[in-house]
Amino acid sequence: MSVSSAPGKVYLFGEHAVVYGEPAVPAAIERRARVSVESRADDHVRVTAEDLSLDGFTVEYSGGTDEHPDVDVSPSLVDAAMGYVDAAVRQARLAADAPDAGFDITVESEIPLGAGLGSSAAVVVAGIDAATRALGEPLDRRELADRAYRAEFEVQDGQASRADTFCSTIGGAVRVEGDDCEPIDAPSLPFVIGFDGGAGDTAELVAGVRALREEHGFAADTVASIGDIVRTGEDLLADAVPSGEPSRELLAELGELMNFNHGLLAALGVSARSLDAMVWAARDAGAHGAKLTGAGGGGCIVALDPGEETPTALSFTRDCADAFRAELATEGVRVEAS
Ligand code: MEV
Repeated sequence: MSVSSAPGKVYLFGEHAVVYGEPAVPAAIERRARVSVESRADDHVRVTAEDLSLDGFTVEYSGGTDEHPDVDVSPSLVDAAMGYVDAAVRQARLAADAPDAGFDITVESEIPLGAGLGSSAAVVVAGIDAATRALGEPLDRRELADRAYRAEFEVQDGQASRADTFCSTIGGAVRVEGDDCEPIDAPSLPFVIGFDGGAGDTAELVAGVRALREEHGFAADTVASIGDIVRTGEDLLADAVPSGEPSRELLAELGELMNFNHGLLAALGVSARSLDAMVWAARDAGAHGAKLTGAGGGGCIVALDPGEETPTALSFTRDCADAFRAELATEGVRVEAS
């Protein structure tokens, strides 16, 4: 049995705009998806997902996800989860040149599905890593990140950047601009996450931004302005002491940029009342800054606050189902057992 895990992530800056070639800075967080893979003698694939922040479900299929499993959870979330696992299987078979390889796969995840914390990327990265290892054909990290990107690209109808999958593979903070992906130094930022208990549909949200951007010059300018925010944020991080504690001044400057970034994402129509309520609760509690993270529409916000005020305020916010601190995950994909 081959077992790999990969971390989720938050976007410090740049989601959505990264799809159009602007830079983005996601950072991996210590919440992981763990995928166990055992090769089978036939070409079937059996997937058991015990903890995708859904009731556990098991589904067996032989290469496609057309059959709907009989489970008591949102079909779109199950479809989404199964679509990513299916795409990961296809990439692993291609990479290992084993088109008929069958697998028993178990997915366990501490990352809520579709909530902006990179659950799909983590499952895809850990899944391809574990499956190629099970076939005796492990991939180096760059190829793994590339295969994982192709899997997301396929599931999201060609509307995906390399940001989530690269960050989950490499860990730490990364910079992504088009096909250019690099790790960057970052201090240990005090991330606080607020989760509204819901999820957004990434493909639909990305398509919405695309339509706005094509229709209005000012929406295209908004996307470009997010790129400017990211470049300013990158300069701040480049001047900061790598690893170690960030200064108050740096937190204040990064927070201001996060607030701006949230405003522009809201203008592009990807925020939600619940996300705005959590962003304001965090700011009112004294967070240096707060913004939605990921595709939006529901899910999570990320705030910067080294103290207890923001997690406490979020836990008393009606729209917040869960509030927690998230540490930067310096390690990306890792082998848990082989
Ligand atoms: C989703 O986590 C981030 C988006 O920018 C889409 C992508 O980069 O693939 C909205």
